Amino acid sequence: MRILSIETSCDETSASVVEGNRGMVKILSNIISSQIDIHKKYGGVVPEVAARNHILNIVPVIDEALMAADTDLLPSASFPDKGRHRKGAIDLIAVTGGPGLMSSLLIGAQTAETLAYAWRKPLLVVNHIEGHIYANWLKQVCVYPNPKSQISKPEFPALALIVSGGHTQLVLMRDHLKYKTIGKTRDDAAGEAFDKVAKILGLGYPGGPIISRIAGEYNRMAVREKMEMAQHFYENKIKLPRPMIDSDNFDFSFSGLKTAVLYMVRKIESEVSMLETDKHKPRLQKDVIPAICAEFQQAVTDVLVHKTIKAAKKYKVISVLLAGGVAANNELRTQLEEAVVKELSDNIIFSVPEQKLCTDNAAMVGAAAYYRYEKNPKSAKMAQVGMKINPNWEL
Ligand code: KG4
Ligand code: ZN
Repeated sequence: MRILSIETSCDETSASVVEGNRGMVKILSNIISSQIDIHKKYGGVVPEVAARNHILNIVPVIDEALMAADTDLLPSASFPDKGRHRKGAIDLIAVTGGPGLMSSLLIGAQTAETLAYAWRKPLLVVNHIEGHIYANWLKQVCVYPNPKSQISKPEFPALALIVSGGHTQLVLMRDHLKYKTIGKTRDDAAGEAFDKVAKILGLGYPGGPIISRIAGEYNRMAVREKMEMAQHFYENKIKLPRPMIDSDNFDFSFSGLKTAVLYMVRKIESEVSMLETDKHKPRLQKDVIPAICAEFQQAVTDVLVHKTIKAAKKYKVISVLLAGGVAANNELRTQLEEAVVKELSDNIIFSVPEQKLCTDNAAMVGAAAYYRYEKNPKSAKMAQVGMKINPNWEL
């Protein structure tokens, strides 16, 4: 079956066509129009601006997704002018209904609802977090099975670590679409911490990719280069806590880590200003920023990896999945995979979507919709008017 899916929960306008067949979902097109350049001058997403841009983008993005997939909403035979239309009909329309920004969700939802009504297609509303998880079942997914195993898709019971700008949670899945949240953040999400730390360091928005790049460059430097760069007294001072790493639950907390970065920056600044006579020097010497980025990224990674492995052992899962925007982080991907191979039994599958499918996109929504529809076609509704969206929809 072919699914047209739409995602507008935050600042990406995305539409995709996926084809689901015998438990596998293949991406035919996945168009993402990002608004990052618009929002970065405000240092974060402005909901009203995001919604206005979704309105401008949504129709061209859907059109491009249909065109790229060489597909149409109705079978070509339904049109008098067949030559004008593309082959392969859409069987189902899927849209993100939450969690997310109310005004952004509304644009996707109303567009999907209108198309479903006009073209008489069933409409299925998908949870955004479920979408992130199901990016792991997309065919373009890169699965890193244990070298001894050749299994190419996740199996149950599975443990999913979802790390995004709005969520950080560990979810146990005993089967498709069955979720039990066993731990979550008590304050900031991991991605939010990346974004806030980048702001403290004056690096711009969104913080995750920027910190990841700077930390990566720093980690690749030789020790001697690092010493020369960070100078005499900085090296030993750049140590951050690993919040809740030894707590006897699977919850997280990242807000204190962000505050620890802030205090560290202030301390370094005051020590620098005592030493420096030139008042026009940058407040936080840029030489020390890479070391802070690397240490912050490692602190987040340590906590996420430690708790995920602990939970995987406790619940005896056979797959560990990573999902959400922060799953695009190279260090987290590599270190979690290494820990799975080293610390869990031989046949454990580790799965993470390819990087562009970790951040918000509509293909993941299509994948989740396929599994929901397969399980229960009644979960899709015909001619739904006034469908419910929920900015706080929990998994
Ligand atoms: O899943 P997503 O696209 O949107 C939400 O549902 O929130 O995640 C966006 C978050 C942002 O906080 C962004 O900074 C973070 O994912 N992110 C990263 C990386 N790429 C995106 N964090 C760390 N490293 C990355 N490479
Ligand atoms: Zn997301």
